[in-house]
Amino acid sequence: MGSLWLSLSLLIYLSYFSLSAADPVTCSGIVPMRYRNDKISIADFGGVGDGVTLNTKAFREAIYRIQHLKRRGGTLLYIPPGVYLTESFNLTSQMTLYLAKGAVIRATQDTRNWPLIAPLPSYGRGRELPGGRYISFIHGDGVHDVVITGENGTIDGQGDVWWNMWRQRTLQYTRPNLIEFMNSKNIIISNVIFQNSPFWNIHPVYCSNVVVRYVTILAPSDSPNTDGVDPDSSSNVCIEDSYISTGDDLVAVKSGWDEYGIAYGRPSSDITIRRIRGSSPFSGIAVGSETSGGVENVLVEHINLHNMGVGIHIKTNIGRGGFIRNITVSDVYMEKARKGIKIAGDVGGHPDEKYNPNALPVVKGITFKDIWGVQVLQAGLILGVKNSPFTGICLSNINLHGVMGSRTPPWKCSDVSGAAHLVSPLQCSELRGAQEAASCTNY
Ligand SMILES: *[C@@H]1O[C@H](CO)[C@@H](O)[C@H](O)[C@H]1NC(C)=O
Ligand SMILES: *[C@@H]1O[C@H](CO)[C@@H](O)[C@H](O)[C@H]1NC(C)=O
Ligand SMILES: *[C@@H]1O[C@H](CO)[C@@H](O)[C@H](O)[C@H]1NC(C)=O
Repeated sequence: MGSLWLSLSLLIYLSYFSLSAADPVTCSGIVPMRYRNDKISIADFGGVGDGVTLNTKAFREAIYRIQHLKRRGGTLLYIPPGVYLTESFNLTSQMTLYLAKGAVIRATQDTRNWPLIAPLPSYGRGRELPGGRYISFIHGDGVHDVVITGENGTIDGQGDVWWNMWRQRTLQYTRPNLIEFMNSKNIIISNVIFQNSPFWNIHPVYCSNVVVRYVTILAPSDSPNTDGVDPDSSSNVCIEDSYISTGDDLVAVKSGWDEYGIAYGRPSSDITIRRIRGSSPFSGIAVGSETSGGVENVLVEHINLHNMGVGIHIKTNIGRGGFIRNITVSDVYMEKARKGIKIAGDVGGHPDEKYNPNALPVVKGITFKDIWGVQVLQAGLILGVKNSPFTGICLSNINLHGVMGSRTPPWKCSDVSGAAHLVSPLQCSELRGAQEAASCTNY
């Protein structure tokens, strides 16, 4: 039995790679890569890559120059090999931040002088604590045509001081993201390594046309809230061909928090997540739990996960309102997970006591197909909301196998309707048979 599963999983593994090698499908074309004629180097602005000198002035002056000279076609800011310590800085439109091989942009650990900014209107407060929040290490607000790329240089958040403040409960405000774009469009982030973010790594919020590809995102598995990429109230986002291994969700699609997110009313839509590999004690690919502006038209495919908490996780709560609809997840392989698939309406807290308990989320039109896993302790949990059952939940060709002798039932379902076809093992009588499954492959 063991060797059968071994060879089966090997087969799946090999077919995954041969498929992706022969499969050129990409959504990265939504933002064209820019060639910039005008090039400057951080060294021209006094940048010193010795790992000790603080380069805040060099970064801010270089970017000020790009913003004010406005060279036709934009400007490339070159970061040569070396370790450039700096405080946070803002990007501007029509620029490329280019990290050479061996270039490291490293965040200062001086948390006392870290600037604060207003909370996001769709969250009403900082995600962790009431009030404002620390600005992201690299920030862009209201910018367009920005590229962060190079030869796999590193953006290092040195987050352990922040993680320790979180652990010791000495944080005053919500920790900084490593990179945040707000109200921005036409953004490409590629061929960069992100490591040790204080909080979420890459956070596009109120953005459109964002491509994240060929990135590596790393943080220790016990680092708190180090999500990989969190598209939030954003549309046309493409996340492809990346390796992410962090202490929280690898990718989580969000759209605001309870009454604040409902009032702001900006959904996340048209999100593609493809060819992602990685590992996390929490979720691989997630939608939620903050989905109050709604999430729709999400395609997740060719995902390869190992040592996971939950493989694929769709999560919401009462008070969230909003909708989660037209989500397709296919071609997922996972090895060693506590849970394979979870869709649940009781996840995550509330910003304050003013949330409306009658604001129930609507979850509808969720398709999972061609999902394989070995050493998955529990295959699936689908737990709808009592007065707002999840509908159109379709499962087909799902093989999530546990460990021998486990007494956990493979599936648990409640307040859900839909169909299941070729799901083994399945014990979820709420989902009907093959005929309905055929009719629900299209939302
Ligand atoms: C960076 O942008 C933020 C908000 O967009 C602003 O509050 C802050 O003053 C800017 N920082 C610098 C150094 O320009
Ligand atoms: C950078 O990393 C990406 C993704 O891991 C890889 O595909 C690419 O070949 C690397 N590029 C260079 C210049 O090392
Ligand atoms: C559902 O989402 C897919 C992307 O996964 C999109 O191509 C399709 O048009 C959407 N369907 C509807 C009815 O919006």
